[in-house]
Amino acid sequence: MKDTLKIQNHEIYISDTSVRTLASECSTPLYIYDLPALKQRMAEFKDHFVSNTLKTHVIYASKAFSCLAMNQLVSQYGFSLDVVSGGELYTALQSNFDLSRVYFHGNNKSDDELNMAIELGVGTIVVDNLMEAKRLVRFCENPKHKIHVLLRVNPGIEAHTHKYIQTAFIDSKFGISTLDTDEIKAVIDTIQTNSNLQFDGFHAHIGSQIFELDAFKAEIEKICQFVQEFQNQTKIQVRTLDFGGGFGVRYTDEDQPVEIALVCKTIVSEAEKQIAAYELSVEEICIEPGRSIIAEAGYQLYTIGDLKQTPNRNYIFVDGGMTDNIRPVLYQADYDFDIATNADAPKTKTVCIAGKCCESGDLLAENTLVQPYQTNDLLLVSSTGAYGYSMASNYNKLAIPSVVFVDHGKIIPIIKRQTYQDLIQRENLIDQDLFSL
Ligand code: LLP
Repeated sequence: MKDTLKIQNHEIYISDTSVRTLASECSTPLYIYDLPALKQRMAEFKDHFVSNTLKTHVIYASKAFSCLAMNQLVSQYGFSLDVVSGGELYTALQSNFDLSRVYFHGNNKSDDELNMAIELGVGTIVVDNLMEAKRLVRFCENPKHKIHVLLRVNPGIEAHTHKYIQTAFIDSKFGISTLDTDEIKAVIDTIQTNSNLQFDGFHAHIGSQIFELDAFKAEIEKICQFVQEFQNQTKIQVRTLDFGGGFGVRYTDEDQPVEIALVCKTIVSEAEKQIAAYELSVEEICIEPGRSIIAEAGYQLYTIGDLKQTPNRNYIFVDGGMTDNIRPVLYQADYDFDIATNADAPKTKTVCIAGKCCESGDLLAENTLVQPYQTNDLLLVSSTGAYGYSMASNYNKLAIPSVVFVDHGKIIPIIKRQTYQDLIQRENLIDQDLFSL
């Protein structure tokens, strides 16, 4: 169990708020964010991603958890915002986020999305490919402001949890390989035909849930080396480098992430070093953390329903499942589970935690240890703050749960639970005659 959690009368408290209070006031399943913990993590990024020689920007990757309140918090900390769809952009707009600090990503932005971004005056568009660059140039006849452009490149470094490899990986769906300098030049030339667009530099993102600082160092060196060669060949000025996100977090004791302060300091010092070594004109560096900002502050709370024993499994059934957290099913992701109403007992029970969807695979954990439990106990899952709510679905017409912040005993509702009415509100009843046989 995390040290930020407290136990009193066998019960877990998140930021001085008991799980029973949360369950009775907000009902379960429930997404909970520990606001002081979240703020502390954001402060670490703000304090440590700084340089004496370069401008630095932290861009929150809102795909990890996008909603009005989160965007407000991101704005409060002075971070920028990465959006990847018209929907995330609309959320930014509705949260009164300064759109000049929005970076619009994605590998297949539609015409509508590009036009929306231009009309709203989005600060930066991260272009993925030549066709997109051509569309952007066409649409950008009369923007409110000059639009900055970064080009996504693929430096041939693929990182996965616990390892990274350097390959000439030229088949990624994202960006253009740094080996393909002709294509990169063609995109920039296209951008530069429109004086409403300003080419600033390059963006790369090498993967997610990465623990090895060496992977990021290799990425920075590779990009700086590429920029030097590219500048020598083309004389195109590069002032911004965005190294993406992907910093690993702790889901279970198996995960040993590097402290965020060290991640930030390492990226800054490596960038300073390589930019100087390659004599680049770069003035500004960016990172795009999503998971590492929001994951560890998040929890999910379920009520334990029926229990069932099969020859090889002790099933605990919970009142949610793959619809509110698809990650165990999709990525075999592991989490820490606690019986939140019997939390000071030792973990002696091996259980299989199953959701309520009509899918044999709907398991939050196949084989995990928890404290002794009974029906109606509460189950708490830790570090669920990233890509849980944002990947939720309505499979089996289950309602998406509500989301709250907790702050020293105060519960702050930030997203309402869907109602049954919400589930059918976009549906039409049609004329029965259409079905006549
Ligand atoms: N920037 C770009 C361009 C990205 O594609 C991503 C994540 C990020 C930043 C943020 O990466 P982070 O710091 O969150 O690792 N659904 C998966 C994760 C997909 C990440 C996609 N791109 C999961 O639940 O593990």
